[in-house]
Amino acid sequence: MPVSTIDWQGDAESGVARIVDQTLLPEEFRIVEIRTAEEMRDAVKRLRVRGAPAIGIAGALGAVLGMQRVKAENFDEFYERLKEITDCLASSRPTAVNLFWALERMRKTARANKDKPAKELKNILLREALKIRDEDKRMCRDIGRHGAQFINDGDTVLTHCNAGGLATADYGTALAVVFTAHEQGKRIAVYADETRPLLQGARLTTWELMTAGIDVTLICDNMAGRVMKEGKIGLVIVGADRIAANGDAANKIGTYGVAILAGEHGIPFYVAAPSSTFDLSLAGGDEIPIEERDGREVSHVFGRQIAPDGVKVYNPAFDVTPAEYISAIITDKGVIRPVNEENVRKVIQEHGI
Ligand code: MRU
Repeated sequence: MPVSTIDWQGDAESGVARIVDQTLLPEEFRIVEIRTAEEMRDAVKRLRVRGAPAIGIAGALGAVLGMQRVKAENFDEFYERLKEITDCLASSRPTAVNLFWALERMRKTARANKDKPAKELKNILLREALKIRDEDKRMCRDIGRHGAQFINDGDTVLTHCNAGGLATADYGTALAVVFTAHEQGKRIAVYADETRPLLQGARLTTWELMTAGIDVTLICDNMAGRVMKEGKIGLVIVGADRIAANGDAANKIGTYGVAILAGEHGIPFYVAAPSSTFDLSLAGGDEIPIEERDGREVSHVFGRQIAPDGVKVYNPAFDVTPAEYISAIITDKGVIRPVNEENVRKVIQEHGI
């Protein structure tokens, strides 16, 4: 069973969101309650809840939390507050488009129900947030179904960061492909890049795979080239935070290097992502906003300083892999291959998003 990384308890007026605090894993599995939109914004910013699809769900539930205390006389007042709250949530992290997609869905839902009283509107918004979560569950399963064909019995997969159950409402995107192939009885081994600076691979991906009984080996990021050269890797599968219309894909920093290494070694490189991760308004990856995070994440490791006082640090949290390095994008709507604008639009747009 996948972990329920984000959930809701109670009704729209007084309920709470419950998240697995991913900053504590793997030492501690703790579920914490989030009671306000500000707390949710902070949880997203600090990566207590993380991964593109999970951030989208967090934003939607954060909007429900924010509206709980709102007493509006009319729709215009209600919508003004909803806009303020969703803008605040949107300022948490800039790269994963799922957040902006989910927040816009919440606003659109309110606009479509402007004739309803505030109390009913709040119920409608909660229902929409839970619908976003449930749709994500289905998308994970569909990605797994479409992607499992790329893994053969006995294959070894390399992955970067965490695109598993902790990052989604169900069992992930990149890891959904692994989990589905495993369920089909294929013997699979995984190499997990540790994923500096925040170690999502070491802390989260290994934990998820070990919990599921899948053979996993942890490596430092700078070992990926070596294990490929040794012939240990059959394919690479990673997730994505935003995919432009031409198929360029932003994902955790380091992914671009892994893609180039895979290309050099003739190893297929797959991106797995739900349709909510596509941003067809952007022509190419250069337009994707890349989050820059606090330099302390690089100069310190879990509170311990590892570089001289005052050292200059650069800490981009994501990079963009150009479409030409991507063998295929595995989505809930089907497989995009070869990766180019025509095929992206065909698979994503023709199925309606
Ligand atoms: O900074 P993070 O941990 O939120 O980055 C997450 C990733 O880069 C994931 O690979 C991506 O969001 C896909 S999760 C299904």
